[in-house]
Amino acid sequence: MPDRNHQPADDALAAAQRAERDARRKASTEASASAPRGSDAERDQTPLQAGGRAESEATRGAVPDAAQIEHAAALLDAGELVAFPTETVYGLGGDAESPEAVARIYAAKGRPANHPVIVHLAPHGDPQYWVEHLPADAQRLIDAFWPGPLTLILKRAAHIPAAVSGGQDSVGLRCPSHPVAQALLDAFSARRGGHGGVAAPSANRFGHVSPTTAQHVRDEFGSAIHVLDGGASDVGIESTIVDLSRGFPALLRPGHVTPQDIADVLGEMPRLSDGSDASAPRASGTLKAHYAPRTPLALLPFDALERVLSAAQVAGERVALVARASRAGRWADTDGVHFVAAPEDPHAYARDLYGLLRALDRADVARILIEKLPDTIEWIAVNDRLGRAAAAFEARE
Ligand code: TXA
Ligand code: MG
Repeated sequence: MPDRNHQPADDALAAAQRAERDARRKASTEASASAPRGSDAERDQTPLQAGGRAESEATRGAVPDAAQIEHAAALLDAGELVAFPTETVYGLGGDAESPEAVARIYAAKGRPANHPVIVHLAPHGDPQYWVEHLPADAQRLIDAFWPGPLTLILKRAAHIPAAVSGGQDSVGLRCPSHPVAQALLDAFSARRGGHGGVAAPSANRFGHVSPTTAQHVRDEFGSAIHVLDGGASDVGIESTIVDLSRGFPALLRPGHVTPQDIADVLGEMPRLSDGSDASAPRASGTLKAHYAPRTPLALLPFDALERVLSAAQVAGERVALVARASRAGRWADTDGVHFVAAPEDPHAYARDLYGLLRALDRADVARILIEKLPDTIEWIAVNDRLGRAAAAFEARE
């Protein structure tokens, strides 16, 4: 029986990743067994959110202290940018009501200025302040999923500068559950009479993989951006986005909160956008080619992996092969193949995905081959990100 856990001695990255993962799992088990739950919203979280939150606290290195949070809030107050952890991915934050700060975010990311940015609110922030009108459905979703990985698109209040929504008449709102994000949002909001919001896209250069650790952010921007370190993000992929600005719920981006979770609250399934709706809001997360590593990536049905692998070996190409552990027991690392046994569970897969793509970018492989995952609703968010990453290379060919 092949050893699925086999790692060559020189593969420090993968080994480090595995060690980190094991430590996180252990901490998660310990923390979720003992962690006290505070608010009602916290008690209502799914096990992954709740356990994940505790996990990140338990494994964080130096937790930013009150003075560091105040310093970061003061930077935001002065129109500067601060990268901060959330439970999904790290965000690159600026004052949402300052068109200059928002312009700085676009410039740092190299992102087109007509793309809207999500506004992050403190746990006690008032969504009403930001919108023309808060529909009953929005309040239901807020009650069910905030704080947490759900963004709502709503009609923007007239006094909120259009820059934050790329000139559109809507605004994206989200209240993150990560304690460091909450502390920062609280401190910034307090400086604005309780109404401050932080505009933050993912803290990566436009089109690249989102960061799930402070080091990933440093890898993207060097020392140019001030980063608060809150450990590894637990959810690992960007928030679910639901558009409620057009009279019916529409899913703009799948994430940890699933279409079924939303249907359970609203009593109807959100419409799934297929990219053909011209009236749909522009959203860079909905671009076909996005979230890509630098190394060419291809998604292949399990049955095709063996053939493509042999061809690569004949061509003398060193490739990375990512497949769920249970399906790929017969493979192990060899000279030409860097094998990664991926998690079986969609949430764990999502949590590890971006860190893995970044690690593979540094693993000296010519191509990344990934086993196509089941086309089922539980894999919708992971399939969405993998599909876009692969599309980035299809588009270039
Ligand atoms: O999990 C997340 O959502 C992370 C963390 C940092 O909160 N943020 C994030 O931001 O993924 P970003 O900018 O990388 O992706 C946000 C998506 C974009 O596709 C953006 O265009 C869309 O949300 N969005 C924001 N405001 C919008 C609006 N008013 N209308 C339509 N789409 C909007
Ligand atoms: Mg992004």
